[in-house]
Amino acid sequence: MSNPFKNIQGEVCWRSPSNIALVKYWGKYGNQLPRNASISFTLNNAYSEMSVKYQPKASDNKKIELKFYFEEKENPKFEAKIQSFLESIVAYFPFLQYFSLEIHSHNSFPHSTGIASSASSMSALALCLVDIENALDGGLRPHEFFEKASKIARLGSGSACRSVFPYLAVWGKHPEISLSSNEYAVPFHETVHPIFKTYKDAILIVSSDEKSVSSRAGHALMEGNPYAESRYKQAETNLTELISAMKAGNIEKFGEIVENEALTLHALMMCSTPSYMLMLPNTLKIIDLIKTYRAEKGVPLYYTLDAGPNLHLLYPSEKANEVENFIQLELLKYCEKEKVIYDEVGKGATKLK
Ligand code: PMV
Repeated sequence: MSNPFKNIQGEVCWRSPSNIALVKYWGKYGNQLPRNASISFTLNNAYSEMSVKYQPKASDNKKIELKFYFEEKENPKFEAKIQSFLESIVAYFPFLQYFSLEIHSHNSFPHSTGIASSASSMSALALCLVDIENALDGGLRPHEFFEKASKIARLGSGSACRSVFPYLAVWGKHPEISLSSNEYAVPFHETVHPIFKTYKDAILIVSSDEKSVSSRAGHALMEGNPYAESRYKQAETNLTELISAMKAGNIEKFGEIVENEALTLHALMMCSTPSYMLMLPNTLKIIDLIKTYRAEKGVPLYYTLDAGPNLHLLYPSEKANEVENFIQLELLKYCEKEKVIYDEVGKGATKLK
């Protein structure tokens, strides 16, 4: 069959941020569908930039032709991953069979910081692919564009689907969020108190070592976890209560739920079979210091954790000076090489080209 795109070539480039979950997604079924609804802050400074150049393939075969560069260097390991991801989504993007692709990827944060780059990179890639499709076929309205990008990002890495929207995104069907879906995330900021749109997130790197248990394996272990069903109910209630706290601008209630979610995530790991623990002694030390600081100074500083030992410290921007002083003086000594990344809630993905 001749190439229907034989005179077409182009390049798209998107920047997409990482996100941090406030109510966690932990447990999945089917093709990356969540067992419970989750909500996250979209970040600003931790992002991936991805550019995809496409030109018609010389050959007639259907194999996807890809060259992948990470930080301007060839990277066969990442290339193989992206290749198999692209092969898995040809049904959504038939054009992939007709082009030779050259992808360049860059992260704003160093590779070994312990920050997972899958959310930012998979969402950036999904945005590029939907953008190419739109350039070839046209016709996607803005909300359809981002909905499809979110869905494709989800297929690459579940939580990546939340990264394409500004400020806050909800992923997973929830009875009180009318447009929510298991297939893609939806933006969620219009009814939220403005204090949360400039919220700060200081990411404290306790260890940048690769995790001993991947999140894929962690999700799978939820299937045999004796607390799984009660966890999914708890997540639903926590999301209802978190939303109401965020609408009211109640940062104490917000913090209480967010910390409860972080500890629940790690408790689920500890009581799965086999059990495992991703927090380190310094994670606990920092948690303890935060609690004391909050009680003594009355500053609303709360923490959350991903599936790893590093902490995300959440605080309103008006408290940035005092909290960041506290981090520098009291907490950095418990971090690997005193590493911290100061981030904040961001306005979502942007098109660069
Ligand atoms: O997107 P995954 O499969 O890496 O899972 C992410 C799981 C957590 O980061 C622990 C929680 C979340 O909702 O982001």
